[in-house]
Amino acid sequence: MAQAVDTPGASRAPGGADPLIELMGVHKRLGRQQVFREVNLSLNAGETTVVIGESGMGKSVLLKHIVGLMRPDRGHVLYRGERIEHLPDRRMAGIRRDFGFLFQLSALFDSMSAGDNVAFPLAERTDKRKAEIKRIVDEKLRMVGLAEIGHKMPAELSGGQKKRVALARAIALDPSVILYDEPTTGLDPVRADTINELILKLKREMRVTSIVVTHDMASAFKVADRIVMLHEGEFIFDGTCDEIRACADERVSRFIEGRADADDLRSLGENGS
Ligand SMILES: Nc1ncnc2c1ncn2[C@@H]1O[C@H](COP(=O)(O)OP(=O)(O)O)[C@@H](O)[C@H]1O
Ligand SMILES: [Mg+2]
Repeated sequence: MAQAVDTPGASRAPGGADPLIELMGVHKRLGRQQVFREVNLSLNAGETTVVIGESGMGKSVLLKHIVGLMRPDRGHVLYRGERIEHLPDRRMAGIRRDFGFLFQLSALFDSMSAGDNVAFPLAERTDKRKAEIKRIVDEKLRMVGLAEIGHKMPAELSGGQKKRVALARAIALDPSVILYDEPTTGLDPVRADTINELILKLKREMRVTSIVVTHDMASAFKVADRIVMLHEGEFIFDGTCDEIRACADERVSRFIEGRADADDLRSLGENGS
């Protein structure tokens, strides 16, 4: 059975509300890398949290822990106050319905039309009738600004359109939480900004809680209520956009300004030594 946990002294989400999602003392080792070293995080309903950090720091692994696709070595993951890290797959599948996951690669089914891709979770996970499914598919495609392309195959769509179809599929079951894994990577700045606008629109219209993994700082500043930075197994920053701009920690400022560090320069033979 899942248990509620009430650990004295555990960090509470700001604002006094009960957090929707919590990580408590999470450790995770993958191969030789200690990906998380006692990580704590607490997310409020309705907020958009942006997770930044260099490649390989564990951003995608973090999202996978939140939806139970990976389990911590130690520590707890809570959803609505309930421990989910040891739930059997069948129970976890029920909870996962509450999450829409936009994967790093859009991962559309190439042999299905855009509309059928969006219909897929509705056909698989609900007993809705065909006409109802079609209505929902049209509504979700309209939400992402692609009302006219339901009949097209993924190969006929641009990269930005594929992302948006994948997003329409991620929201097909009206999730409470949307997880975006590098939603703007590989898109030109205009297409990337369309995705930013969609993240804001879904927050506003569906009142979702969002977690956005990105290293696109323009995107981060546009969509974030709060930014956290993962570095070598820990969160080394947690605060607002204004706070991160003023952050004196060199590891943080270097990342948000996109500056190489001394080691990177040395490896290019650029420091005169
Ligand atoms: N399924 C896995 N098995 C073993 N190692 C993994 C697995 N998934 C990720 N890793 C490793 O965990 C680390 C963090 O990966 P990831 O979360 O994908 O980083 P990123 O911050 O770029 O999203 C990397 O070193 C990666 O190689
Ligand atoms: Mg990743």
